[in-house]
Amino acid sequence: MTDKLAIDGGKPVRNEPLPPPYPGALVMGDEEKQALIEVIEHKSPFRYYGPDMLNKVSEFENSLQEYLGTKHALGVTSATAALKVALVALGVSPGDEVIVPAYTFIACASAVVAAKAIPVFVEVDDTLNIDVDDLKTKITPRTKVIMLVHLQGVACDMDSIFLIAKQNDIAVLEDCAQSFGAHYKGQQVGTLGKMGVFSLQMNKLISTGEGGIIITDDTDLFHRAVRFHDHGNLREFTGGVPFMGENHRMSEFTGAVGVVQIKKLDSIIASMKKAKEEILKGIGDIKGLIFRRVTDGAEDIGTSVIFYMESAELASRFVKALNAENIDSSKMYGGAIYQTWPQVLNMSTATPEGCPFTCPYYKGDVKYHLGMCPKTEDIAGRLVYIALSPTFGDQEITDVISGVRKVAANLYK
Ligand SMILES: Cc1ncc(COP(=O)(O)O)c(C=O)c1O
Repeated sequence: MTDKLAIDGGKPVRNEPLPPPYPGALVMGDEEKQALIEVIEHKSPFRYYGPDMLNKVSEFENSLQEYLGTKHALGVTSATAALKVALVALGVSPGDEVIVPAYTFIACASAVVAAKAIPVFVEVDDTLNIDVDDLKTKITPRTKVIMLVHLQGVACDMDSIFLIAKQNDIAVLEDCAQSFGAHYKGQQVGTLGKMGVFSLQMNKLISTGEGGIIITDDTDLFHRAVRFHDHGNLREFTGGVPFMGENHRMSEFTGAVGVVQIKKLDSIIASMKKAKEEILKGIGDIKGLIFRRVTDGAEDIGTSVIFYMESAELASRFVKALNAENIDSSKMYGGAIYQTWPQVLNMSTATPEGCPFTCPYYKGDVKYHLGMCPKTEDIAGRLVYIALSPTFGDQEITDVISGVRKVAANLYK
């Protein structure tokens, strides 16, 4: 006898929704408030000058260098900006192709287009990260950068990716927007490739509302990034060749909150990992749920529980039934990047001439169409995603387990 599902008129497992997936924001408190008040009292919200400077962005960058173990860190306005600045620093230019995973947020593709290059989509496998076999087939003489994404707290298969990158002399840019503090073989993600990028937006492990970070051990790349993010200036350094840039400077308000949030990252990750471990213990035996594979050598920092169903239809039914139990779930992006965002599929640019896709410097013939990454479309369709929060207590953990067990028992009876 199974309990009647809430979607069929039964009593839901919970009476209210789970805490939302805003890890950094949910643990904000007096420390962040005081940090912001201090910037206001000093009337110096700009990082490079002011009447009574606190140098909060620099302090944040220094703590990031120490925490991540990297030579250089640069605060910017968002991870989307960070990706564009990093691509420009790496020398990406018209005519180039950049490898982007077919399952990720649209920002990854948009940043490539903003850097005047062409995104080439590569399949993901059951880790939800780059499928290494497909990566080999997507490299052309025009490939300048492999932008990999460590999706939802799990690192990519870095050893295999580096092997391919080295053989072809291609730079690796790590997008760590969803995996701040994750490790691969004991090393912080973001420090493995030529450059790494992090997000401080609302859904991320630590947050300043908006914000991004670029890290690198390469001083020349760092100087190019500093220049491009600040109109070509190199205020605190000398050397390098000036060029025209943009403005993606981080404000002192962002830096001040960042300084506080980075100190909370370890405890945020510890809470989320513990919640995930307990949930997996409680649902790991359920027939029909195929759990997301964790890359060999990667540590799962527990931002979410993800499993695949036998069919897309079953996954949709699972999500609907789980939501009725007040266990918030979704199919995450719902499909490959070009299925989720039609502007990607249609190569729609902000201006009608269609650059960079129509740019005469581009000698390739990349076309996007439905079905182009069938493995990703299949996996994305069958996926069920439950976001975790550092504020989950015993009750929330028990409720997630009960909810998933209840829905599975009904769908498979
Ligand atoms: C993988 C990935 N890359 C980039 C971004 C863009 O981050 P931001 O919102 O800070 O621009 C996100 C944001 O959700 C993301 O998930």
